[in-house]
Amino acid sequence: MISRLTVSDFRNHEDALIVPAHPFIVLTGENGAGKTNILEAVSLLAPGRGLRGAALRDMARQDGSGGFGIAAQVDDVTIGTGVLPDAPDRRTVRVGGAPSAASALAERLSVLWLTPAMDRLFADTPGGRRRFLDRLTLALHPGHATHSTRYDAAMRSRNTLLSEATSPDQAWLSALESQMETHGMAVTDGRADTISALSDILNGQDEGPFARPTLALEGWALDDQPLARQLRDSRRRDAAAGRTLVGPHRTDLKVTHAAKEQPAALCSTGEQKALLLSIILAHAALVAGRVGRPPVLLLDEVAAHLDPSRRMALFDRLASTGGQVWMTGTEAALFDGVTGATRLHVKAGHITSE
Ligand SMILES: Nc1ncnc2c1ncn2[C@@H]1O[C@H](COP(=O)(O)OP(=O)(O)O)[C@@H](O)[C@H]1O
Ligand SMILES: [Mg+2]
Repeated sequence: MISRLTVSDFRNHEDALIVPAHPFIVLTGENGAGKTNILEAVSLLAPGRGLRGAALRDMARQDGSGGFGIAAQVDDVTIGTGVLPDAPDRRTVRVGGAPSAASALAERLSVLWLTPAMDRLFADTPGGRRRFLDRLTLALHPGHATHSTRYDAAMRSRNTLLSEATSPDQAWLSALESQMETHGMAVTDGRADTISALSDILNGQDEGPFARPTLALEGWALDDQPLARQLRDSRRRDAAAGRTLVGPHRTDLKVTHAAKEQPAALCSTGEQKALLLSIILAHAALVAGRVGRPPVLLLDEVAAHLDPSRRMALFDRLASTGGQVWMTGTEAALFDGVTGATRLHVKAGHITSE
């Protein structure tokens, strides 16, 4: 859990300090105050581009130096990330004071979020669902981000080779395809393990206050051919298409409303949110049990969309995960039912105790 967070020159926060004294951190304030920005800062303490998927350049405070910094005390180590003013597109990461790769963050902290933008998750293209799935996977398999990055890098090289050369070097292609197989299979195995472990938990649950989902992977399957073989067989088609048509980068997460037997994409926005909450709650329990370290949950504007009884049920279930939960809302009264909370008020980038 994060016991201290400092944020400098990030978005509309010049210099913010939060010292959570309870498992729940509740941020309230009017629209545009800077609540989501704080959650975004926490989300950058994990590999990836954070909960907005934004460019680093956009994150540095407009009237600041052009750089920003985020640091957190997690157990007995300080982790931090940011950009320097002279390299605004390069993220730097420190773990315990030593420069590190962003992937090293995953070994210290798991961060998961639910934001209003994710209302489009089931309607949008598979990319967003894949990123969601990968974040779930990362909490169980800290090497997942590294495998994904290396898979993507090998795929980009292969795409370039196929598009540039009329008769590409076959040995070089095979070497890249073999790298794609190594890292792609690690990615595939991690995802499959996550879906199967989550399904075990979800299938054992009663239909509680939040809709129960069934989960499946679709879009690309290994079938009986190894990935490297599928890639070799697909070279000509891939060259014509200008991209790679087989592999785990084509995987999609399929979510179905179990009781209604209805694909999530056809469910109402409220039902979709409930499905995502069920997944995140099951996942928090899974990670707590397996890794012994529940994920940090960032729930942006989630409480406002639930009726009072579901809201109370959510707070209860969140408390039982034993992890740290950061929540935002415009009204402090939304969080009256939360016991054990550090309550903060955000106004124009300034944070004060409630
Ligand atoms: N790079 C930036 N520098 C300064 N302010 C920013 C930057 N990026 C976003 N903002 C400001 O942050 C505010 C939005 O903050 P946000 O955390 O989304 O608000 P909310 O409290 O509603 O969640 C907006 O007023 C926006 O102009
Ligand atoms: Mg917001």
